[in-house]
Amino acid sequence: MSPLAVTRTLPLDATTAALRADVANGLTGTPKTLPPKWFYDARGSGLFEDITALPEYYPTRAEREILIARAGRIATLTGARTLIELGSGSSEKTRFLLDALTGLHTYVPVDVSESALAAAGEALLAERPGLTVHGLVADFQHGLELPGTPGPRLLAFLGGTIGNLLPAERSGFLRTVRDLLAPGDALLLGTDLVKDAATLVAAYDDARGVTAEFNKNVLAVINRELAADFDLAQFAHRAVWDSEREWIEMRLRSLKEQTVKIPALDLAVHFDAGEEVRTEVSAKFREAGVRTELDAAGLELREWWTDDAGRFALSLAVRR
Ligand code: AVJ
Repeated sequence: MSPLAVTRTLPLDATTAALRADVANGLTGTPKTLPPKWFYDARGSGLFEDITALPEYYPTRAEREILIARAGRIATLTGARTLIELGSGSSEKTRFLLDALTGLHTYVPVDVSESALAAAGEALLAERPGLTVHGLVADFQHGLELPGTPGPRLLAFLGGTIGNLLPAERSGFLRTVRDLLAPGDALLLGTDLVKDAATLVAAYDDARGVTAEFNKNVLAVINRELAADFDLAQFAHRAVWDSEREWIEMRLRSLKEQTVKIPALDLAVHFDAGEEVRTEVSAKFREAGVRTELDAAGLELREWWTDDAGRFALSLAVRR
C-alpha cells in the first residue's frame, strides 16, 4: 500500500487573502514590489523547471554536483531517519539524498504547490516502496507544524531559495528552523555564492528569454486571481546586480505611462514610463556571512562544501 499522505496546513482562502494583501501593499508602496512566491502557479513552476536547464543558470547544476559528491558524507554525519525538505518542488535533486540515506524511514516534502507535492510524492513512492512520504502543503515562512516522525531528522532547504528572503525574513526563518530542530537533528542549506556580475546577471537574464517569461508570469497570476488587466507586452524584464547588498534584483519595467485596474482590490495602479516593480531579490552569499547568520540564529556551521568551480555552497549545521 502506498503510504502517501498529504496534509494541507495552508487553507486555499488563506492563499488568496495573502496574495490580495501582498499585491495591495506592494503596488501602493514606493518603490513598487511584489513577493517572489507568487511566480509559482503551474505555469510558473514549469518555467522555473525550464530555467534550471538553461546554459546560463548554473546554480541547479552546481548544487547537484555537490549533492552527488557529498550525499554519502551527509548520510554518515546525520544518520537521518526523517528527511524534511522545504520548498521541495519537483524533488529532483532530493533523489541523491534519498539514495544515500540508507536508514531513512520518512520523507516530508513541504511546498506551497499541492500539484507539485502530489506528483513528486507519487513518483517517489513508485520507486521506493518502503519509504513513507508525508507531503505538507504549507508556507514555510508562516508557522511550520511538522508531523511526528522518527529522528534524527535532516531538514533540507536547497536551491538557494533562502536568498529570496529579505534579511529580516531570513533571520526570522533561521530562528524558526533552529526551534524546529531537536538535539541530533541537522540543517542542510543551499546558498548561491557571490561571483562576477556578468555571470550573475546572465543567470537571471538568459538569451532565450525564459527568465523574462517567468518574471512576467507574476502579472498573469494577478490578472487571473484578481481580475487585473496587466498587459504583459507593456512590461520589460530586468536583472540588476546590487554590489552593495550582494543580491540580484529582478524587476519589471513599465514601457509606458499606464494605469492598471485590479477590480478585486478596487484599485487602480499608476505606472510612470520607465517605473520599475521589484519582483525578486536573490541574495548571494560568502562563507563568513552564512556562518554569522547561522550563529545569530543559534545554529552552528559544521560543514561547508562547494562545487569545484566555487559557484554554490551546501552548509551542514546543527543547533548550538
Ligand atoms: C527559486 C531561489 C532557486 O533565486 O535563483 C530563478 C528563482 N529566479 N531565476 C533563484 C529564480 C529567477 C531561484 N530560486
